[in-house]
Amino acid sequence: MKNLAVSDHELHPLIAQRWSPRAFDSRLVEAEKLAQLFEAARWASSCFNDQPWAFIFATKDDTVNYQKMLDCLVPANVVWAQVAPVLGLVVAQKNFKHNGKPNAWGEYDAGQAAATLVLQATALNLVAHQMGGFDAAKAIATFNIPETAHPVAAIAIGYEGNSSDLSPELQERENAARSRQPLTSFVFTGEWGNSAPFS
Ligand SMILES: Cc1cc2nc3c(=O)[nH]c(=O)nc-3n(C[C@H](O)[C@H](O)[C@H](O)COP(=O)(O)O)c2cc1C
Repeated sequence: MKNLAVSDHELHPLIAQRWSPRAFDSRLVEAEKLAQLFEAARWASSCFNDQPWAFIFATKDDTVNYQKMLDCLVPANVVWAQVAPVLGLVVAQKNFKHNGKPNAWGEYDAGQAAATLVLQATALNLVAHQMGGFDAAKAIATFNIPETAHPVAAIAIGYEGNSSDLSPELQERENAARSRQPLTSFVFTGEWGNSAPFS
């Protein structure tokens, strides 16, 4: 695992180890590991336990569907994601199953499912890189996503590769120090902007 989070407070190793590399090994991911990833997503929490997520994925050996998935990504992501053995879309259902009303937490819950999947990937020595850079309209048309659902993100999954295989520009981004806002800027107590004492 490279590029560990340099945190101000101790983290569980799984969280410290998770990162979003661009260098992927082309080796395929075992079917059982793929099942474990989606099983992890399945056990995410959700509003009303509605589980409003869906995943559409393609593995590299499924050449037609993999190419369709790749074609949905913006060119800047295609450059590195085309090596990843698994590409997918995270989709959120728009309405609750129990009453058909709009689910204001659908995307939140789909994000939680994706985050859970990504941590499971880390535990399996895999890496995952989520992407907002994809053409949602194209994804909807390509994969027959119904009106009642909305693709929120794309994701590349696989084993980590060598950053030396990337272009010099991407290598620089890949090897750059990871940074985060301090807790003081987003953990408040009492009122907005009042930083929590422990931060
Ligand atoms: C919803 C979402 C969209 C993202 N979109 C892209 C993207 O289109 N291209 C890309 O290279 N990285 C993308 N990323 C990765 C972020 O840039 C990355 O998570 C962030 O820089 C923090 O780095 P880390 O994940 O290694 O901690 C995205 C991440 C998320 C969660």
